[in-house]
Amino acid sequence: MKIEIPTPDDWHVHLRDDAMLDAVVGYTARRFRYAMVMPNLAAPITSSTDAAAYRDRIVAAAPADAPDFRPVMTLYCSPLVDLDDLRRGVAEGVVKAVKYYPAGATTNSEAGGASMSDFLDLFETLAELDVRLLVHAESTDPAIDIFDREAAFIERELIPVSDRLPELGITLEHVSTRAGVAFVDERSQAAATVTPHHLAQERSDLLADGMRPDLYCKPVINSADDRDALIAAATSGRADFFLGTDSAPHPTTAKYGPKAKAGVFNAAYGLEVVAEVFHQAGALENLAAFTSTNGASVYDVEASTNSVTLERTEIDADVATTFTTKAGDEVVLFGADVATRWRVTND
Ligand code: DOR
Ligand code: ZN
Repeated sequence: MKIEIPTPDDWHVHLRDDAMLDAVVGYTARRFRYAMVMPNLAAPITSSTDAAAYRDRIVAAAPADAPDFRPVMTLYCSPLVDLDDLRRGVAEGVVKAVKYYPAGATTNSEAGGASMSDFLDLFETLAELDVRLLVHAESTDPAIDIFDREAAFIERELIPVSDRLPELGITLEHVSTRAGVAFVDERSQAAATVTPHHLAQERSDLLADGMRPDLYCKPVINSADDRDALIAAATSGRADFFLGTDSAPHPTTAKYGPKAKAGVFNAAYGLEVVAEVFHQAGALENLAAFTSTNGASVYDVEASTNSVTLERTEIDADVATTFTTKAGDEVVLFGADVATRWRVTND
């Protein structure tokens, strides 16, 4: 089994900073062309100056053997975002999108919003500039069950905003439920990124046979029925679902403590995991749409003219299962079990 696809893009990734950036950027840069870089650093990226400086650090840290790597930057939706600066950043090509985090929903989201309705001016500006709003759709209402929080956020926050601003392009990030798929089904303004781990796992994998902190992420991996809805949408070839890995490294010391940090580091083998999901679904003919062409169209760029070949083998290869940063932090690589069966080569 062998398939050639245009070089994939990753439309949602956390590259961090400092020693962690140095350690992870090569995994993304060698596998992907565009990388939509999330702005949730310890000090959030809220201005075009911050974004340009962060892009420079990413480019400086990227390996020389990944010349086609193109990080594109996002601003963190907060009251600190100045609309003139946003316009300038977009005009200069520094800012590609704006990311909304509900305050308290996930890693470094403290600077996020209490309600999307507080940012209508900003969203109107995005609609006018034809810049997409990226949304972490997860209610932070403690009364809502953790597995119902995406649906609740969509109902309470996202639908009112999208009804009010039908011209606003919305990317529902790391869609994790059937309710999320339904939201995209119903609205031409909406598209969704899907992660390798939400496609390949369901909540029993997380919880049933020894709790697995390496699978803990936000939004939390949901039911088998939800996963099946994601697989159906992603493997269908439809234009509004595409790959965003949400690769999010945390040191094992932060994952295996009493309160695991949310995030799955999948930049290394996310592509193999996705290929395996498509293979199992009998849908490899739609892999390129999901990994390489749909997202490019949504973000108004050409698909890559370079290509990658994926070959499924019967012989299990040896693959690394962890890396360690220069600061001494160990990180677990998601998907190593699947990666043993796939060989990926850049053409
Ligand atoms: O699991 C997650 N990790 N979800 C997010 O939204 C943020 C990310 C991170 O930055 O660690
Ligand atoms: Zn993310």
